[in-house]
Amino acid sequence: MKDYKRYLLTAALPYANGPIHLGHLAGVYVPADIYSRYLRSKKTDVIFVCGSDEHGVPITIKARQEGISPQDVVDKYHYLNKESFEKLGIAFDIYARTTSPVHYETASEFFKTLYDKGEFTENTTQQYFDPEASQFLADRYITGTCPHCGNEHAYGDQCENCGTTLNATDLINPKSTLSGAVPILKETKHWFLPLDKHEAFLRKWILEENTHWKPNVYGQCKSWIDSGLQARAVSRDLDWGIPVPVEGAEGKVLYVWFDAPIGYISATKELTPDWEKYWKDEDTRLLHFIGKDNIVFHCIIFPAMLKSEGSYILPENVPANEFLNLEGEKLSTSKNWAVWLHEYLADFPDKQDVLRYVLCANAPEAKDNDFTWKDFQARNNNELVAVFGNFVNRALVLTHKYFDGVVPVMGETDEYDKSVLAEFAIAKDKIEKALDNFRFREALKEVMNLARTGNKYLADTEPWKLIKTDETRVKTILNISLQLSANLAILFNPFLPFTAKKLNNILQLENLDWEFGGKENLLLAGHKIARAELLFAIIEDEEIEKQLQKLRDNKAKNDAENQTLAPSKEKIEFEDFTKLDIRVATILEAEKVPKTKKLMKLLVDTGIDKRTVVSGIAEYFEAEKLIGQKVSILLNLEPRKIKGIESQGMILLSEEKDGTLHFVEPSKQASNGSQVN
Ligand code: MF3
Ligand code: ZN
Repeated sequence: MKDYKRYLLTAALPYANGPIHLGHLAGVYVPADIYSRYLRSKKTDVIFVCGSDEHGVPITIKARQEGISPQDVVDKYHYLNKESFEKLGIAFDIYARTTSPVHYETASEFFKTLYDKGEFTENTTQQYFDPEASQFLADRYITGTCPHCGNEHAYGDQCENCGTTLNATDLINPKSTLSGAVPILKETKHWFLPLDKHEAFLRKWILEENTHWKPNVYGQCKSWIDSGLQARAVSRDLDWGIPVPVEGAEGKVLYVWFDAPIGYISATKELTPDWEKYWKDEDTRLLHFIGKDNIVFHCIIFPAMLKSEGSYILPENVPANEFLNLEGEKLSTSKNWAVWLHEYLADFPDKQDVLRYVLCANAPEAKDNDFTWKDFQARNNNELVAVFGNFVNRALVLTHKYFDGVVPVMGETDEYDKSVLAEFAIAKDKIEKALDNFRFREALKEVMNLARTGNKYLADTEPWKLIKTDETRVKTILNISLQLSANLAILFNPFLPFTAKKLNNILQLENLDWEFGGKENLLLAGHKIARAELLFAIIEDEEIEKQLQKLRDNKAKNDAENQTLAPSKEKIEFEDFTKLDIRVATILEAEKVPKTKKLMKLLVDTGIDKRTVVSGIAEYFEAEKLIGQKVSILLNLEPRKIKGIESQGMILLSEEKDGTLHFVEPSKQASNGSQVN
């Protein structure tokens, strides 16, 4: 690789229509942050930009659902996400937003430049239009029957039942979700980026010059190019977005995937007047950190835009990751199957580094990977606490105990000492190599291995026993252990910045510059260290169970919400209804039927008599609380034996979508035996 003068790192701009979850973090933001911290600790000229992606149809839909404006939606999530990132130590140099004036100006100018250069083609197509709302409809605003599976609630872009990608015109019986009207086809003009015209360039640039890209990235690009590139519309008929800045474009805005990546440029502009140096000088290494669903936009479309504009550099690499699953299932925002960052931070306010550690150790670098709370707990307890934390703590505590917190002199070293010391430099090399190649899991593993070496070194040499017989030897052992701890502070710093800082405060190192890593004499004999503090704490089973329960609750709630109401039944005659003898009654006694989950044996006063009824309500009501409850009861149901008990009638219950039961409760004034007609 050539010697670059400076680095420009971008992390995908998250949509400001929801909070950040662990999938975003593991795929994009944690690796990007590790890399930028690594570069900074090497004193590299680097800027790291991100921000909110605030346009697009999903934001307008969210606004409509919540009865607020799109601006309200993006304001809410922009600030929430900005703050959550900060708290997790994701240290962007700027977290901008695509509704900022600088961005409007930058994106409009970009479009105009391409327009003036004749880089777009224009095309008039037929598109669905809502005659009642008098506006064109984005695909998501149209529902209808899926031609593949018959699902009646398919969207104009996709059927969520069978997963097929659709065109709005494929839908049978299309309906506008805005007004319910049947949409009509109407002509509309749009601007297109003719990717087909850039094919030769893209083929050469990616398939020949970018063979160093990750196999998953390269492979996706290759299959896109091989399947034939087509012109892509860069404008939309929508009332939320950046207006298309040319004449004859009323009511049209820039397509969100046209404006969003330009957000990287406008963010840089907002950050520094020197922004052109980062975007237009071949000596800048531009890297896009993204998830795999963003590959085509960053590797093909945005580069084609930049190339067409003519004055910008192209990304040198796009280290995209695969997806993170949660407890064995695909993460889903709409199904609320996710761990949200702001909730994690509220539940574990001082465990930022634990999350960073687990997400990096488990990062979906080459294939999809799974996050489980059990693994989270195990990695904390068995690795952070038992290895890194334990080692450092013993080194610090023993130094205080035997030498008043003063770094002792390293005396003569034996073979074991020498091999441990030699490992610093070897480890640093390996870590650097892994980081330089975006292999963050491997890099982190190497750092942890160094901590393991230290932990074993203390366990093997047992200075707490030697102190009685050989103080000189103990001095050497502790000196080496402290040097090792100092190395760990430096090498863990990009991954676990909060812990590294804490450790640095204890060791009183001058700084955590990367160049000092791998060295044997970071702490001179006589240097005073501060009071020892634990770096990590055990996470108990209850805390994990709480998180698992939260996930289960979310799932149950979501399942209930998504279950549709039962369709209405066939018509009946009035005579059919009058056959039913429904009365008001009061429960006198209640008792759970032994060895059953749901059954309750009730004695009810029907006004006419007192009779026994078996009812499937035990999961929802406690026996004691049922005494005196007024109910409606169907009296003339043929008696039935249930678990050996004769049930003489049926209590009327209404059932919620999630199975919860409620009594059909008569008014308090209604007397037992009165008829329900
Ligand atoms: N908002 C997009 C997503 O979450 C990512 C946009 S990246 C940018 O998938 F380059 F367009 F900014
Ligand atoms: Zn379908």
